[in-house]
Amino acid sequence: MDSTPALDPDLLDKVTNLAKRRGFIFPSAEIYGGFRSTYDYGPLGVNMLRNVKQAWWRSMVQMRSDIVGIDAAILGPPAVWAASGHLETFTDPLVDCLKCKERWREDKIEGVCPNCGSDQFTEPRAFNLMFKTQAGPVEGEGATAYLRPETAQGMFTNFSNVLATTRKKPPFGIAQIGKSFRNEITPQNFVFRTREFEQMELEYFVPPAEAETWYRYWIKARYDWYLDLGIPGELLRLHEHAPADLSHYSRGTTDVEFAYPWGWDELEGVANRGDYDLTQHSNASGTRLEYYDQAANERYTPYVIEPAAGATRAMMAFLLAAYHEDVVEGETRTVLRLDWRLAPFQVAVLPLSKKSELEGVSEEVLSILRPHFMCDHDVTQSIGRRYRRQDEVGTPFCVTVDFDTLEDRAVTVRDRDTTAQVRVKIEDLLATLRERTSQG
Ligand code: GAP
Repeated sequence: MDSTPALDPDLLDKVTNLAKRRGFIFPSAEIYGGFRSTYDYGPLGVNMLRNVKQAWWRSMVQMRSDIVGIDAAILGPPAVWAASGHLETFTDPLVDCLKCKERWREDKIEGVCPNCGSDQFTEPRAFNLMFKTQAGPVEGEGATAYLRPETAQGMFTNFSNVLATTRKKPPFGIAQIGKSFRNEITPQNFVFRTREFEQMELEYFVPPAEAETWYRYWIKARYDWYLDLGIPGELLRLHEHAPADLSHYSRGTTDVEFAYPWGWDELEGVANRGDYDLTQHSNASGTRLEYYDQAANERYTPYVIEPAAGATRAMMAFLLAAYHEDVVEGETRTVLRLDWRLAPFQVAVLPLSKKSELEGVSEEVLSILRPHFMCDHDVTQSIGRRYRRQDEVGTPFCVTVDFDTLEDRAVTVRDRDTTAQVRVKIEDLLATLRERTSQG
């Protein structure tokens, strides 16, 4: 299970090119030469990224009664980051190549400069990854603020607010999706490591005696989430960190890893943070972040189990896993075999010609489907070309409106993966598509 599956060495380039060409992900500020460390999500990418986040929110919040959501501020005062330990310890080891002067993260280069091949470096020094800025019109220490490097601290600082307003008791969780910022030394591998990215994090508060059980529970639940959304098991594995490699807050961390084109690497981390965060913030703020168990007449600091995923990194993994080339009717096609829940469009409505009678029926079909599915409407070029275009962006179903439709009030539904086509009455179309997406 640990050997890396043989992957197409060009896969990263192919997916990066497809993402740019079809409007998933663009390099930021490209007309100014690009910014290297940030990316913009285009018309298709924004749909897919929303779907990734929606799938996470659905499984974490909508389908459970023990987890609630929040949306906390990105900008925060230094006190939060002093208490969390980030100001002191959220660093990476920075080295300069003595020959070409490029800067690298020491733990990522195995002693050889990726730029010039030299093995001569400066001594590593701790480089803090926090983005520092000024809040308000006054400069100086009193005005210092930081962009959050993780969403997690918003859940800890709001622990009492959430307890007081929701009547939850451990085990219970607070979930959040949002942007985080890290001044990464070497952003790289497309959106795998960027300076601005989105996270999907859960802080799950448990009685200390139950921490190990819940830690194991969340490792399995998070692994299964990726499987359920279509990443094949051979592209996923779990990697438990050795005690020496643990972050400053962690009593145990297991990564869900993905087989990227460069090898196994982190997709998501699941950590047992113990009582580190609540204790730190209690001590620093003077507010006791504890739970009072009335039945046992006992006050305690819950432990925290944290599944921490990257929304943008997960989207990239879903794209890499979905990318396929196969041969249909003697022609090679590119197809994204995305789960329908993640695809930018679930349905494309394709009138065979631009004739107004067909356009009229297409509009009718779209008005039936749009409240239930994200739909594309494509009228240009041959039907074969349009099928290929939809395959390439992962649209699971194409609905073709042709001249027979005017007579029989039926359309052709084509399946992306099998390319099989069936004729369906317009009045049955919604039910058919809902059934094929297991919503029937
Ligand atoms: N609250 C714990 C925490 O933030 P982390 O392992 O540093 O843990 C969690 O980050 C996840 O966030 C990672 O597994 C990854 O998916 C994503 N992530 C972290 N840094 C990232 C970056 N620079 N670019 C894109 N995604 C990143």
